[in-house]
Amino acid sequence: MKILVVGGGGREHAIVSALSRNSETEIHSVMARKNPGIARIARKICLTKEIDLARITAFARETGVTHAIIGPEAPLEAGVVDELAAAGVACVGPTKAAARIETDKAFCRDLMTHHHISGNPAYRVFHDTAEAIAFVKDHDGDLAIKPIGLTGGKGVRIMGEQVDRAGAIAYVKQIKGDVVFEERLKGEEFTLQAFVDGSHIIPMPLVQDHKRAFEGDTGPNTGGMGSYSMPDHMLPFVSRKDYTAALSIMASVVAAMAKDGHPYKGILYGQFMNTANGPKVIEFNARFGDPEAMNVLTLLSSDLTDVVTGITEGTLSASKVAFDHAATVCKYVVPVGYPAAPKIGRPLNLGKTGDAILYYANVEERDGRLFTLTSRTLAFVGKADTLAGAEHIAEQAASAVKGSVHHRRDIGTQTLLNRRIAHMKELQ
Ligand code: AMP
Ligand code: GLY
Repeated sequence: MKILVVGGGGREHAIVSALSRNSETEIHSVMARKNPGIARIARKICLTKEIDLARITAFARETGVTHAIIGPEAPLEAGVVDELAAAGVACVGPTKAAARIETDKAFCRDLMTHHHISGNPAYRVFHDTAEAIAFVKDHDGDLAIKPIGLTGGKGVRIMGEQVDRAGAIAYVKQIKGDVVFEERLKGEEFTLQAFVDGSHIIPMPLVQDHKRAFEGDTGPNTGGMGSYSMPDHMLPFVSRKDYTAALSIMASVVAAMAKDGHPYKGILYGQFMNTANGPKVIEFNARFGDPEAMNVLTLLSSDLTDVVTGITEGTLSASKVAFDHAATVCKYVVPVGYPAAPKIGRPLNLGKTGDAILYYANVEERDGRLFTLTSRTLAFVGKADTLAGAEHIAEQAASAVKGSVHHRRDIGTQTLLNRRIAHMKELQ
């Protein structure tokens, strides 16, 4: 089978690696800049903007791919799936209309309300700046403030924590009106990703991401500094009941999308806050998470090519999808100063990577040397029977990198995990 992978980050390197485990799969890649890991595996690469639909479709025709996996959200929002489908390429990824589950936060909340799906926090949508400001002025207590559209995971401001009322009003002015206000949820976050073929939904192991830049969950929000998963595919602060509730919310969303005439095919990513009252939806994404893709795709023991056809043909079944029962820890190495002021163009030297799997992300390879760019640089994944074993492997490799970079040493440690468990107990 010939498959096109759109995107050039760590997530897409993980997708391409998983596909390459089937030696008969021929992989082609479209990416904005050359990812050294993907470039080594792909048969042909096309360097272009990931929203350049004309180029992407022309490249799909030229390479003769029959299927495509769309990594990032920007091409989904631009309608790459609609274009590729028109050219006869079957896609893992929703149409522009169905991608609104991620690209339009008001659409997502309203869909859940109209279909009586549980898991929504209290929320209000505004399209007018003056009305939104009046709401903030009158509101008592904390509030999560979100632009309706895509923000690269960096658009949320919490009034009562990151900003005061004046700061909240300034932010509403800055985002010019189209805004969702949500009840501030308290709890522990987890990610549930699933393969979806329009009607069937097959869950992947639970993962916890770490958004904050620095150890102890301090510093600004990032795209995600690293993530871990456990051998039983659960998380110790998520009960079976919570898990079943979260999966049922996702299944209800998939059913609602089909009922409303835009069936969902691709990866559905549910970001949940596990609260004292069970899991609540923070948001949905229309793609794998980055870094969460690195955890689940490292564990996937079935052939991703089969999963791809299951999704595109509507024949997904649990018997086709299996994951190893091991722990994984992913640690991102990022430029010093990331996310606000990353040190760009700094040389890096890999040390001993040991048993860690290296996924290249936003990094430049020049004359055999690596240099930092603006975003997350390299991801190291440890996989082992225990979380401690996986953490050790990832940590050794990440700390062996020399250059103007840093990573979070605490991701995947028992100390951090114990804090999460204690926090959840305290809330319940
Ligand atoms: P998002 O861009 O939706 O992934 O949100 C980024 C981060 O903001 C999340 O990981 C949460 O930590 C936080 N957040 C988003 N929505 C809420 C909410 N309603 N209550 C509390 N925290 C939230
Ligand atoms: N890790 C969060 C995201 O991919 O949006």
